[in-house]
Amino acid sequence: MPTNGTSRPGRRAAILAGLRTPFVKSGGDFADLSAVDLGATLVNELLARAGIPASEYDAVVFGQVIPSPLVSLIAREVVLRTQLPKNVEAHTVSRACATSIQAATDAADQITLGHADVVLAGGAESLSDAPIFASRPLARAIVGASRARRVVDKARAFAGLSARDLTPVPPALQEPTTGLTMGQSAEKMAQVNGISRAAQDQFAYLSHRRAADAWKAGRFDGEVMHVAVPPRYERVSGKDNIVREDTTPEALAELKPVFDKRYGTITAGNSSPLTDGAAAIVVTSEEKAKALGLRPLGYVRAYAYAALDPSDQLLQGPAYAAPIALDRAGLSLRDMDLVDMHEAFAAQVLSNLQAFGSRKFAEEKLGRSAPLGEIDPARLNVNGGSIALGHPFAATGARMILATLRELGRRNGAHALLTVCAAGALGAALVLDGPDATA
Ligand SMILES: CC(C)(COP(=O)(O)OP(=O)(O)OC[C@H]1O[C@@H](n2cnc3c(N)ncnc32)[C@H](O)[C@@H]1OP(=O)(O)O)[C@@H](O)C(=O)NCCC(=O)NCCS
Repeated sequence: MPTNGTSRPGRRAAILAGLRTPFVKSGGDFADLSAVDLGATLVNELLARAGIPASEYDAVVFGQVIPSPLVSLIAREVVLRTQLPKNVEAHTVSRACATSIQAATDAADQITLGHADVVLAGGAESLSDAPIFASRPLARAIVGASRARRVVDKARAFAGLSARDLTPVPPALQEPTTGLTMGQSAEKMAQVNGISRAAQDQFAYLSHRRAADAWKAGRFDGEVMHVAVPPRYERVSGKDNIVREDTTPEALAELKPVFDKRYGTITAGNSSPLTDGAAAIVVTSEEKAKALGLRPLGYVRAYAYAALDPSDQLLQGPAYAAPIALDRAGLSLRDMDLVDMHEAFAAQVLSNLQAFGSRKFAEEKLGRSAPLGEIDPARLNVNGGSIALGHPFAATGARMILATLRELGRRNGAHALLTVCAAGALGAALVLDGPDATA
């Protein structure tokens, strides 16, 4: 368990700007764009909008959760495919669904340490372009054939392959240690914590309602760019296409469970969908922001990552990470004007909220005498979340940071807490300060 140290040494990391593509159901408008295409398109537009000369950027931290074998280092590739100078160094990160939280905290660390003044952090995911593998026997045969000199030996390498060996293999959806998919793990959490189907559907309904209202009120204007849709480039995608303005609790209640067809409660409606998209932010020092004459959207105040045993409740990481991040921030849950929890599944959010408020959980799992507390629903995921907006794995964290800081600005709020659960039973939590909050 990480220590809860409260000191916050070093320079204050400011978030100056950010942008995302629309989040689009995979197999749809972005089906012909790879993650690096999406990342480069986004970063070029962000560079044009951020008001910072390209020569000022020191580094890029960028992530992708399901990487393409054709692009092993998406961060550097993003530099090379954009207007950034070729001498901008870059590294790729992955922390499953918390990948662009990791990119943001890496960037903030570089600023805090004084190693960099301007860092671009984000992530892109194309689940339309997920790599498909050859089976082990077929892969061995292909390698054998490539090494063979004579045609007859090349042909012989394929002898003995069965029809099954020729079947393409998709990326693993199961956790290697538990053998359960994310959906099955969320189903287990719903059962253990007694989260009803009705409660999940109501939560999913609210996610859509709030996201639809946010779009209608123009609250996402300025943070979502337009992307020309290949291959003809005659159409433009300018809006998330998963948000359902017309969904109802009744329509959600009609959907069949997906991960446990007989007894389950998790459906396509109360899960985050498979999504394509990209998001990024620009992180600088407070001094650099002043020198550039730009007003920050806000600041990174503190963060924490935590992990639990995957055979326990796989997606409960936020309940472990949030208390540590708040301790490091020197703040409590009550001080938060906004809380944004990544919605992998409604059951996962509701399970984490239950743990936040549980004395038993605090005592037994965290060794703390008091629970973290209840979250006022009026402050939670106020503009919807990943269920309605979609979840391009590596882009979600940057989307949350950007949207939360903009909302904090609209409300003149001081502090916000962000949490993300991630594969491997990891949890991430980030405490952000609004532009006028004191450090
Ligand atoms: C749950 C999952 C399997 C569903 O995939 P899918 O079957 O392609 O989902 P669809 O969007 O086609 O939805 C299925 C049906 O539900 C309906 N539906 C989905 N959301 C709805 C809503 N909010 N209201 C009403 N109907 C809805 C769709 O219209 C569709 O109906 P149809 O079959 O009549 O066309 C997929 O989204 C998934 O795997 N999600 C989890 C991803 C994951 O594990 N992420 C990691 C966690 S961080």
